[in-house]
Amino acid sequence: MSGTVRGAGVVVTGAGGGIGAALARRFAAEGARVVVNDLDEARIGGLAEEIGAVAIAGDASRTLDAVRDALDGTVDVYCANAGLASPGDVLAEEEVWAAAWDVNVMAHVRAARALLPGWLERGAGRFVSTASAAGLLTMIGAAPYSVTKHGVVAFAEWLSLTYRHRGVKVHAICPQGVRTDMLTAAGSAGELVLAPTAIEPEAVADALFDAMAEDRFLVLPHPEVAGFYRARADDTDHWLGGMNHLQRKWEESGGA
Ligand SMILES: NC(=O)c1ccc[n+]([C@@H]2O[C@H](COP(=O)([O-])OP(=O)(O)OC[C@H]3O[C@@H](n4cnc5c(N)ncnc54)[C@H](O)[C@@H]3O)[C@@H](O)[C@H]2O)c1
Repeated sequence: MSGTVRGAGVVVTGAGGGIGAALARRFAAEGARVVVNDLDEARIGGLAEEIGAVAIAGDASRTLDAVRDALDGTVDVYCANAGLASPGDVLAEEEVWAAAWDVNVMAHVRAARALLPGWLERGAGRFVSTASAAGLLTMIGAAPYSVTKHGVVAFAEWLSLTYRHRGVKVHAICPQGVRTDMLTAAGSAGELVLAPTAIEPEAVADALFDAMAEDRFLVLPHPEVAGFYRARADDTDHWLGGMNHLQRKWEESGGA
């Protein structure tokens, strides 16, 4: 890696389980000083004890000062990982859309806003955004999730292209199915599209560390996503037709 994470101050939000817990465990195993955050106090308490981290419970956006203080003011790596599954089609309620924007997009914006002044002054900082393959490809049955994950990929791209010459490194993690509570919450569409190729959360952490070693922006724990992403760009209507085929298959199975 361009620099090791040994001794680095690392924050992982949404670390109560799944991908966040795997990221926190991996950073701790690599010798980082880790702060774990989640709404679910009980779940991060146990994890913090296990890996020697500091646990700060609460909404990721409202605990930014506390997590920074826990690292004596210096956050070297910020993993904006907390997310909401937000299933539902375009008719999802306003509150569902608003919650998805708040957690899946605005929590990343608020964190970057808080961290960038210090990072630009030091000429160093690493922002890890857990987006999703849905942010590159769109997920059937999940309009708020797909839209907000596209938004957060765009935000991560913007951060990277704006600040990479000033020492700020950015990674967007874009997995398909990962065996976590969220995959279960994705219901029958998740069963159809994500479950067959689902991977363990630890594989996502491995993919992030590979990408950090190469200073690579896009983290694709499912390598096949690169091909789907290319196919979508090359012939969007053909790709949309394929996705609509999946949608119809889902409807026929009684999912929609
Ligand atoms: N599981 C998958 O198939 C998959 C695929 C692609 C991307 N992702 C993304 O990975 C990230 C982690 O999800 P996961 O699969 O590990 O699921 P998960 O449900 O195990 O973890 C999400 C965690 O975020 C926490 N959280 C939610 N809102 C929060 C908030 N406002 N502040 C702090 N914590 C909050 C939850 O309590 C939960 O512990 C999410 O951003 C998700 O969109 C998951």
